Amino acid sequence: MKLPNWRAIVAVLTTAMTSVAIAQPDFQPSPNAKYVPRLVETMNAAQVQHLKLWYAGKSKNWDLANFELRRLTDSLAQAAIFYPGIPVSNVTTMKEPLLSIADAITVGDSKKFAASMRGLTDGCNACHASMERGFITIGIPTEQRPAGNQVFEPPGKH
Ligand code: HEC
Repeated sequence: MKLPNWRAIVAVLTTAMTSVAIAQPDFQPSPNAKYVPRLVETMNAAQVQHLKLWYAGKSKNWDLANFELRRLTDSLAQAAIFYPGIPVSNVTTMKEPLLSIADAITVGDSKKFAASMRGLTDGCNACHASMERGFITIGIPTEQRPAGNQVFEPPGKH
């Protein structure tokens, strides 16, 4: 069965993320909520989180990078939990780059951050290819920033 494997991966990732995280309260939905997001909605969120994670890391705003990494991990976990048909092996390959990004954030290592982001992005595309979605290709964001309504530099540095 696939679900327990997913849960194991998610547990490992969550533990890893928590250990590097600066204490931040998690906002929980109502326990009565029955809404299940469509997979594309979760993936659209993952796309934005991937983008913001990149800009935060590039700007050495490690608190924001940490925040986005946790949100991205949550999105991938959410996809796994709600859509157990997704092959497990495609998620396990995400584990290594996610942990590596977490390490890079902890020590503020920009080089390792960039390399790990490339590994993560390859993982996104590997899963898309394996699920007949090879036409959805994720890349490292270009230097041109998206809608300029969020400041990525750490507070006080802009
Ligand atoms: C375990 C498999 C898997 C992984 C890992 C994965 N995706 Fe996806 N993704 C999918 C599937 C399946 C779809 C297509 C969903 C559908 O057809 O309803 C998709 C669709 C998408 C889409 C298209 C959504 C749209 O409406 O345009 C984007 C963007 C996307 N993924 C981003 C990402 C990013 C960014 C990552 C990595 C951080 C990632 N995905 C990792 C399985 C995965």
